[in-house]
Amino acid sequence: MAGNRTYTMIKPDAVANGHIGGIIDMILKDGFTIKAMKYTHMTEELAKEFYAVHKERPFYMELVTFMTSGPIVAAILEKENAVESFRKLIGATNPANAEEGTIRKKYAESIERNAVHGSDSDENAQIEGALLFSASEIF
Ligand code: RTP
Ligand code: MG
Repeated sequence: MAGNRTYTMIKPDAVANGHIGGIIDMILKDGFTIKAMKYTHMTEELAKEFYAVHKERPFYMELVTFMTSGPIVAAILEKENAVESFRKLIGATNPANAEEGTIRKKYAESIERNAVHGSDSDENAQIEGALLFSASEIF
């Protein structure tokens, strides 16, 4: 059975461009509720761990540099079938391929500076949420 939670980040590009409010509005209008949220800044160590699955990819260090380049908003969201539903709301990784009405279509600048993160599985949602939030912040 699909889980009801996912993990997201509003990435440094979208924060710097003033899109925090617009993105949260789209998330709430799509029926998600916010279970935890913080305005924070990833350290290099945290970004490397967070994106460890991509460490053999050519864009890994560039991604770590980008994700540590400015503040982010991290959040745990709840909705039925959360992971799949949220991936649908954010749209394709490359905004050139993102559908109308998706967050990346509206706010992403490029395949890397793509405004938001969304977990790709229930297991990763749990792991990622635990990297950014302590147990006492998740309820
Ligand atoms: P995310 O993890 O951020 O939700 O994005 P995703 O699943 O759609 O994409 P993923 O393959 O997991 O890639 C993670 C992030 O790496 C950057 N990226 N850059 N330069 C490139 O070719 C490239 N490909 C991916 C993006 O910021 C992507 O969201
Ligand atoms: Mg991913």
